[in-house]
Amino acid sequence: MSTARIKLDLDRQLGRVDRRIFGQFIEHLGRCIYGGVFDEGSPLSDERGFRRDVLDAAHGLQVPVLRWPGGNFVSGYHWTDGIGPREDRPRRIELAWRAEESNRFGTDEFIEYCRALGAGPYICVNMGSGTMDEAQAWVEYCNGTGNTHWANLRRANGHPEPHNVKYWGLGNEMYGTWQIGASTAEEYVRKARQFASIMKMTDPNIELVSCGQWGWTDWDRTVIDGLAPYVRYHSIHIYTGSGDYWRNVLMVQQADRALRICEGLIERARHQQRLQHPIGIAFDEWNVWYRTRADEQRRIGLEEQYDLSDALAVATYLNIFIRHCKSLEIANYAQMVNAIAPIFTRPDGMFLQTVYHPLRLYAAHHQPVALDVFVDSPTRELTPEEESRDTSPTGRDWKVADLGPFPLLDVTATCNPPDGTLCISVVNRSPDQDLATSIGVDGHTIQNVTVYQVNGPDLYACNSFDAPETVRVHQRELTEPLVEFTFAAHSVTVLRAQYQRRQ
Ligand code: AHR
Repeated sequence: MSTARIKLDLDRQLGRVDRRIFGQFIEHLGRCIYGGVFDEGSPLSDERGFRRDVLDAAHGLQVPVLRWPGGNFVSGYHWTDGIGPREDRPRRIELAWRAEESNRFGTDEFIEYCRALGAGPYICVNMGSGTMDEAQAWVEYCNGTGNTHWANLRRANGHPEPHNVKYWGLGNEMYGTWQIGASTAEEYVRKARQFASIMKMTDPNIELVSCGQWGWTDWDRTVIDGLAPYVRYHSIHIYTGSGDYWRNVLMVQQADRALRICEGLIERARHQQRLQHPIGIAFDEWNVWYRTRADEQRRIGLEEQYDLSDALAVATYLNIFIRHCKSLEIANYAQMVNAIAPIFTRPDGMFLQTVYHPLRLYAAHHQPVALDVFVDSPTRELTPEEESRDTSPTGRDWKVADLGPFPLLDVTATCNPPDGTLCISVVNRSPDQDLATSIGVDGHTIQNVTVYQVNGPDLYACNSFDAPETVRVHQRELTEPLVEFTFAAHSVTVLRAQYQRRQ
């Protein structure tokens, strides 16, 4: 007997899933770029200094858009330090992460990396210590086609064709006390309008991203109201994470609340201001981040070690993103290499952390049209007492008890009507219960099923250099049409299949 049910109806579509939700983010932070993405002189690197093993693993994530250079780093970054002959570039004190910046990886290297990865570049400008002239010059350097100084400098640096950077972020987390040049929302709006105008005058084809907070705050409201006429996207960031298993996997539901409220704020501004152009959400930093799970030396570079429960959390984020496909256009996983990352290097190699697997499976198998899903499964509540016991650093405002009870199975489904491909992704959040589940698509049979399941020996299983496959993907084919499937405890399952109308 099944204990859970999943029912799909191909006519009940939520909308189109934007592939840009599978974006990634790289920042000048710890070993994300230097020693991660870029490692000059390493036998593992190509002639450009790009680590080949990292690039291969990153290819697996099918990254449509790559955000750079920060993060907190950008609010003290002067991009002109990072162009021209490498030996002439200044070495600077780096204030956001208390480091030194060699500037050997800069705008042209970033663009080259995006090309190598097949990703569209997304640059966030410095609205902390930076000026609007710098932001204007950056757009001109990247996209200029005229006979003007910055465009000519790009040509002189070996790039005759424009870089065509389409996405430009108006500052990073400008609300935060930790941010260089932090300000009030009103001050930010005033300044961002000036930046936006001059950047758009330089290249009217660029798309701007306003700097939001968590999606539901007064900062978000003020910024959306003030910048809606100028921007194509509003950005939000959320990090979750807890040593308590249930909090760790369920706290992610806060991303759902964030998207819902942010959607409302955007709709309100567009309606009140009679705006015609669409404004999407760019969830341009998201992840599980404990801020504690690393030894002292590694903590500085945010070199977190991820376990199986974190992989369940990451898959839940992605499910939420797919369900919000109407408003969520871009998302960037923070970050791609070494710093709170799925790809982890050392000088002689790398391994894939647990969280890599859902990221890869979702990017590889989810289809363009999201379906509304009916799920009936056992549930788990979170009590306010449980939440208040959670003292993890990411636990602050992330109280989700009121959103429960939560189904143990978190499910999304997508399809591709022209070729009849179906993808169902299921997170079984139960720590100890396998859940036998009936699965049906109205009027159709589901066949040619391939199962990809991420699982490991226990909730806290991790991968490492010594045991890189403790948590991995188990793949198999089903010979029979799908009518029932048992989702193993603490697993992420992606079912890829074909559907066919029943005769
Ligand atoms: O991704 C790590 C940091 O988290 C980023 O630099 C910042 O934007 C956020 O606070």
